[in-house]
Amino acid sequence: MSGCSIREFRVEDLERVCEIELRSFRDPYPCQLFIVYHYLAPGLFLVVECGGRVVGYSVGVVEGGKRGHLLSIAVDEAYRGRGLGRALVAEFESRVKAAGASSVVLEVSVKNEAAISLYRKLNYRVIGLLPKYYPSGEDAYLMLKELG
Ligand SMILES: CC(C)(COP(=O)(O)OP(=O)(O)OC[C@H]1O[C@@H](n2cnc3c(N)ncnc32)[C@H](O)[C@@H]1OP(=O)(O)O)[C@@H](O)C(=O)NCCC(=O)NCCS
Repeated sequence: MSGCSIREFRVEDLERVCEIELRSFRDPYPCQLFIVYHYLAPGLFLVVECGGRVVGYSVGVVEGGKRGHLLSIAVDEAYRGRGLGRALVAEFESRVKAAGASSVVLEVSVKNEAAISLYRKLNYRVIGLLPKYYPSGEDAYLMLKELG
């Protein structure tokens, strides 16, 4: 994380976030959806900036006042493996906890070894399988973490 910091998404970050999204996912979110999440839950849409450049983001919501839902997270390929993904998830968890949530859920492709490994390290566990969850037909794991 040295030289990098996490802050809330601003509308002017949209182009860069969409670029990272497009490069990171086979089934990317439509760009405009990020604006919707920004207005829905501005405190839960985070970016990580290194040397003034946005290099990753995470976006999520709190559902029913009780459960955080991490909707998407991605780090620019050139900046992976430096703890930025872990830092984004940790910041998301602390913010949803402060908002009153007692757990976090997320979906992850069963083939996404890097992300599954990240979530397992942060004590998420698989609580279900979602067949053909993604438009590509890939299955997803539903993972949950109880916030202590
Ligand atoms: C998943 C992703 C966000 C991880 O971001 P990152 O900044 O590289 O992750 P970190 O450096 O914080 O890694 C934290 C832990 O994740 C795991 N991890 C990260 N990348 C990994 C890889 N390529 N292979 C195996 N484990 C990996 C490791 O357990 C690592 O712990 P360690 O540092 O003690 O080894 C990043 O790989 C990414 O953007 N992928 C494409 C988008 C994506 O798949 N998002 C997840 C959608 S559910």
